[in-house]
Amino acid sequence: MSADGTTTEGRPLRVGLIGLGVISKFYVAAFEQLDDVELVAVCDLRPTALDPFRPKMPVHTDHRKLLATPGLDAVVVNVPNDVHHAVCADAIAAGVAVCVEKPLTTRVADGRALVAAARDAGVVLFTSFHRRYNDNALALLERLPSDVPVTSITVRYLERIEEHAGDDRWYLDPERCGGGCVADNGPNAFDTARQFIGDLSLVEAKVLRDAEGVDRQATVELRAASGATARIELDWAYPGERKDIEVHLADGTVHHADMLGGHDGFKRSLWHEYVGVLVEFAADVRAGRGHGEDGLAALELVDQVYRSQGAPTTAVPGPDPNEDGLKFPVRSTLVKILTHRRDDRGMSLTEFASRCVRRGEVHELVTTDQTDPTPGAVVDRVGFLGFVEIESAGVLDRGDEVWAGGRRIGTVLGFDDCHFPNHYNVLIAVDTPTTGPEQGLAPGMEVRFGAPN
Ligand SMILES: NC(=O)c1ccc[n+]([C@@H]2O[C@H](COP(=O)([O-])OP(=O)(O)OC[C@H]3O[C@@H](n4cnc5c(N)ncnc54)[C@H](O)[C@@H]3O)[C@@H](O)[C@H]2O)c1
Repeated sequence: MSADGTTTEGRPLRVGLIGLGVISKFYVAAFEQLDDVELVAVCDLRPTALDPFRPKMPVHTDHRKLLATPGLDAVVVNVPNDVHHAVCADAIAAGVAVCVEKPLTTRVADGRALVAAARDAGVVLFTSFHRRYNDNALALLERLPSDVPVTSITVRYLERIEEHAGDDRWYLDPERCGGGCVADNGPNAFDTARQFIGDLSLVEAKVLRDAEGVDRQATVELRAASGATARIELDWAYPGERKDIEVHLADGTVHHADMLGGHDGFKRSLWHEYVGVLVEFAADVRAGRGHGEDGLAALELVDQVYRSQGAPTTAVPGPDPNEDGLKFPVRSTLVKILTHRRDDRGMSLTEFASRCVRRGEVHELVTTDQTDPTPGAVVDRVGFLGFVEIESAGVLDRGDEVWAGGRRIGTVLGFDDCHFPNHYNVLIAVDTPTTGPEQGLAPGMEVRFGAPN
């Protein structure tokens, strides 16, 4: 069924392509090879990227205009990672099936929200894991004996990212790519391991970041329900390119697939992999199957890896040893839970790194993944936790740890006084903005603010 309710039976799916950068040519070529899907409109912010398509189909610089194409069945979302969420959300709201490039989103909360929205709306949401269709990986999967268990698998995803980035260097901006090699290449590698040994959970991870905060190298150890382990090696500073899989079986044999083998030349393997992407996407759309679960599974692992490193919260400065001595913690009680989040809240950090709070005052707790403590810094991405009543007067300092119900929530980043004197917004730096229910909060629960350690 297309978005306007007409049947898709007996005709090609009418698909729009949003984002005409490095990867778009593989999609365009795949459309040309397949009868089951038809490229009917394209969109990019750069008019020059649209030029080659102008004679053939409608072109747009705003994806919402493309989404209004009459009879549109689906879109491919092929924009920078940080734009996936907004474009996918609009497509789902328009009732248009989505094939989104990996990673599903840069923040796990956004990924969860997309999956929930796709389910609620009954819209197909498909994540493009192109390595799933790699001929050498599929051949390896096929030749593994079904009666000998896999004991371990190693997936290597090594490259020099500068060679893979387009003109826009968003890959090297942690905010825009999601963090670095873990956020960007991790999902493909995790999904490959999952294809061989099933759902995975994190055992441990080691992530190395460069001076700009981009993760450049990582090793991630995972475990499947069967007990089989997966080792994922990611590298964005590798001279050349290596993408391969090594499988160890219980009988002691070792099996290998070079995902680039037989596809000599830069990115040559992608030509056939993207045909596989579109074939499976079309089948899912026709069957009404899938609402982003696979993309979210990979994203949850990315999130677990970053959490295991204690990522952005460590960026908040702690107490100043020249000024800050010992202090009592500030105790408070949750009196109201909040359940929403926003990407455009526009709070602004006051110039003060400390605020005195008195017994009986009520203040609002707000989480953010932004970590810039500069006075006046605008805080847009927030999740609301709720309001607390202060039980014991004291001093809240930037860098204080915030604990609720025995769990550490995050670190005080600063204060926004847009509602003062009614209340302060106490901003708490976390890995991903979360709401009260997502943190398991309930009225009456104690929230404590205290110096680290
Ligand atoms: N480059 C690779 O090696 C590679 C491999 C596999 C998957 N991917 C994924 O494919 C996606 C695209 O990556 P890329 O390398 O082609 O990026 P790119 O920077 O080369 O291209 C992105 C394109 O999106 C356009 N764009 C940005 N915002 C837009 C918006 N709001 N509406 C419409 N167009 C917009 C840009 O103008 C640009 O043309 C990413 O999600 C990436 O993770 C990339």
